[in-house]
Amino acid sequence: MAISYRPSSLFSLLIFICFALSFSISFAEIRFSDIRSDDRPIIPFDEFGFTHTGRLELNVSQISLSNTSPDLDLSLVGFFLSTKDSWIHVLQQIQDSEITCALQSDIVKVVYTFDHLKGAKSFDTLYTEIDADQFTLVFANCIQQLQVSMDVRSAMYNLDGKSSRHDYLSAGKTLLPRVYFLLFLIYFSMGGLWIFVLYKKRLTAFRIHFFMLAVIVLKALNLLCEAEDKSYIKRTGSAHGWDVLFYIFSFLKGITLFTLIVLIGTGWSFLKPYLQDKEKKVLMIVIPLQVVANIAQVVIDESGPYAQDWITWKQVFLLVDVVCCCAVLFPIVWSIKNLREAARTDGKAAVNLMKLTLFRQYYIVVICYIYFTRVVVYALETITSYRYLWTGVVAGELATLAFYAFTGYRFRPEVPRSRHRGIHQDPLPEPHLLEDLVDEGVNGVISRKDGTNQTGNRGYLRRAMLSVQVSLSQSNGQGEMLFIRRASKT
Ligand SMILES: *[C@@H]1O[C@H](CO)[C@@H](O)[C@H](O)[C@H]1NC(C)=O
Ligand SMILES: *[C@@H]1O[C@H](CO)[C@@H](O)[C@H](O)[C@H]1NC(C)=O
Repeated sequence: MAISYRPSSLFSLLIFICFALSFSISFAEIRFSDIRSDDRPIIPFDEFGFTHTGRLELNVSQISLSNTSPDLDLSLVGFFLSTKDSWIHVLQQIQDSEITCALQSDIVKVVYTFDHLKGAKSFDTLYTEIDADQFTLVFANCIQQLQVSMDVRSAMYNLDGKSSRHDYLSAGKTLLPRVYFLLFLIYFSMGGLWIFVLYKKRLTAFRIHFFMLAVIVLKALNLLCEAEDKSYIKRTGSAHGWDVLFYIFSFLKGITLFTLIVLIGTGWSFLKPYLQDKEKKVLMIVIPLQVVANIAQVVIDESGPYAQDWITWKQVFLLVDVVCCCAVLFPIVWSIKNLREAARTDGKAAVNLMKLTLFRQYYIVVICYIYFTRVVVYALETITSYRYLWTGVVAGELATLAFYAFTGYRFRPEVPRSRHRGIHQDPLPEPHLLEDLVDEGVNGVISRKDGTNQTGNRGYLRRAMLSVQVSLSQSNGQGEMLFIRRASKT
């Protein structure tokens, strides 16, 4: 079957990712960008949230212009810092023909213009930014048909407290290493708890439960790498290789999480030991898409918005992500459909209906999780001030944590069923399951443990179940056991 190829193709894809990573040199907040024969009028570089002690180090070398005529007004070529708001005003000014070039505007902060070069091929400059705000470093080239080539090293940082240590993390992100480390500890404890549960319930643990353990471990490792990555960037401006580990673990985590959602959705291993062909197809779609999503994520993070195809990668990522999120919902919908059909025809309706409720809940929770982490977090990041950017990260991570906790709790290994010796050896259905079990106006039958049967409508059955549940819990599980069947329409 096609699915049996998965491990090997996964492995080769992993190698491909590592290969691709070794090419993208990652310097994170200290960024090296090579501009080659570029005639774009505006090239945005990095964004950074400055505090009142912000600094921008700009080292540009290998400058060469396609036109070296001395008549050119090189004051129209250079670097400046601008906030998003002032950029809108600058565009307005240009539209109103007040100015012809963004560098002439008095709203932007000009860092360096090329008329100061005086024939030199490189320059270094240190710009002090005392206005706390989120700025974008932009290169403007207002001379038409002038192509510029140069190697740019840009480093933006804030001076930290009295010690004047460099803090290379943007003002709203400087808390992130601690946040990630705390989350790592939480997932680490969750992993420990899960191992304990697996050990206690080892007789009823399915393969999927070990798969869940793998997902938690990968998530914890991913967070640890992210914490290290961010803390190295914070102190030195570069990730010292932790970003590579981070990408590898996010890749593995992304694939295993989506696979887990699909597997749980299909009921694999706890409802049935096999996957149907259409369910395998979902996996065959989701896994390669996750690979593409991860490659896009790496390119987006590492190249920064100055790269020409940055927007394209961003769109690829969004598209792939949306397709993945939709695809994982199908198996859950199929399961719900199957369970509902089984419940209508099968005598073991109560068990099926409990699972049906579980799957319906899971469907809703998956949708909420996807919606929250994709839409709400994005909205939060857009509306919060740059200084509180970390709140978006925290909100997204808390939602993820809740999702993991819910999945683990609802699909935990169950207690052995042998103690329930009811007529049908099925656990007691919960009262709210009656809506699925017995349609309005249709009678159901209660078979009691003592062999007597009682027929009644939905309201009667619900009352009967409630009273039996009370007596069950009072007598510590040894009381009367009952099973409700759906009787034929009267
Ligand atoms: C970059 O420029 C700054 C400011 O002039 C200077 O202090 C720093 O040493 C330069 N860095 C490199 C790598 O040239
Ligand atoms: C009650 O229903 C069960 C299951 O249909 C049946 O086996 C049993 O004989 C019935 N008991 C009485 C007393 O009718």
